[in-house]
Amino acid sequence: MAIEGEFDLENRLVAQNEIPEDRDSDNKLRPKTLSDYIGQEKAKDNLSVFIDAAKLRGESLDHVLLYGPPGLGKTTLSYIIASELGVNIRATSGPAIEKPRDLVALLTNLGEGDVLFIDEIHRLSRQVEEILYPAMEDFVIDIIIGQGPSARSIRLPLKHFTLIGATTRAGQLTTPLRDRFGVLLKLELYTPRELTAIVKRSAEILGVSVTEDAALEIASRSRGTPRVANRILRRVSDFALVLADGEITLDVARTALAKLEIDGLGLDNTDRRMLRAIIEYYGGGPVGLETLAATVGEEAITIEDVYEPYLMQIGFLSRTPRGRVATKMAYDHLGLPYRPAKTQSSVFDSDTE
Ligand code: ADE
Repeated sequence: MAIEGEFDLENRLVAQNEIPEDRDSDNKLRPKTLSDYIGQEKAKDNLSVFIDAAKLRGESLDHVLLYGPPGLGKTTLSYIIASELGVNIRATSGPAIEKPRDLVALLTNLGEGDVLFIDEIHRLSRQVEEILYPAMEDFVIDIIIGQGPSARSIRLPLKHFTLIGATTRAGQLTTPLRDRFGVLLKLELYTPRELTAIVKRSAEILGVSVTEDAALEIASRSRGTPRVANRILRRVSDFALVLADGEITLDVARTALAKLEIDGLGLDNTDRRMLRAIIEYYGGGPVGLETLAATVGEEAITIEDVYEPYLMQIGFLSRTPRGRVATKMAYDHLGLPYRPAKTQSSVFDSDTE
């Protein structure tokens, strides 16, 4: 059973993952220093101490793991760390490192103290990951030369470097990898106040004028995510340009957001369809993740990483041992009569996440 409507994640205005149009603009809007970076106060405070300490000791910074939902600035923060340390950064991602030799090439090209940034580090293959262990721990790599009985292993020293790993799913990291990070930083969804400051800063860089209340309106509908806030800002400024001499007032923001079908809480049609599917097809849940994924035509992992964090944060969805449950608040928001989720398992509810 598939529900009606396109789930076009690539073009979702409120998608937390990066879409192609973000790339240039995100680069322009990206803060370059820790003091320009708004929000994530806890992570920033800790980081600035560790960065200062590494500089005072004249050593490389300990390896850093950044984790949290997509769109919160993990890549941005990594570039800032490298720039605050005054070193070069090489950026890659787990899936891009296909073979152990790809990683060996990256590692052997790093200069003293440089940063290697690996996005989606939970997606490294086992073989590649095993190269990382001695590299992280002792700054060496073991290379096997030859085959069969004559094969021997040689040790190559590396320059001291800092690995920054980013992941949306810290739980999927293997224990040996996780244990080799000295600094673990969790990034949290941003508050509307922080996002308001980000919207104002971005508007200034883009040369568009936005009133305080309009910035707050955009911020409140950006599901805690700067990437979404910046994307909505760009769309709303199109409306402002065509309809209102370029100034984003509260009125313009509200009109534009209504036309974009982003509701007062930042939910778009896709979120609403997913909640509706849980409520209308599965009596509000519990429904297993895989079943829900098949129903809405999405990958389970996308539902978990992209849709669910915000719906859970605003209390619309809960995860139970037997599946996902829509809460009363979700029914109320959609204007549907509340019927408490059933407590007995149903025939649909066979998967066990
Ligand atoms: N643009 C995107 N994320 C930002 C942040 N955390 N601070 C300032 N500007 C941003």
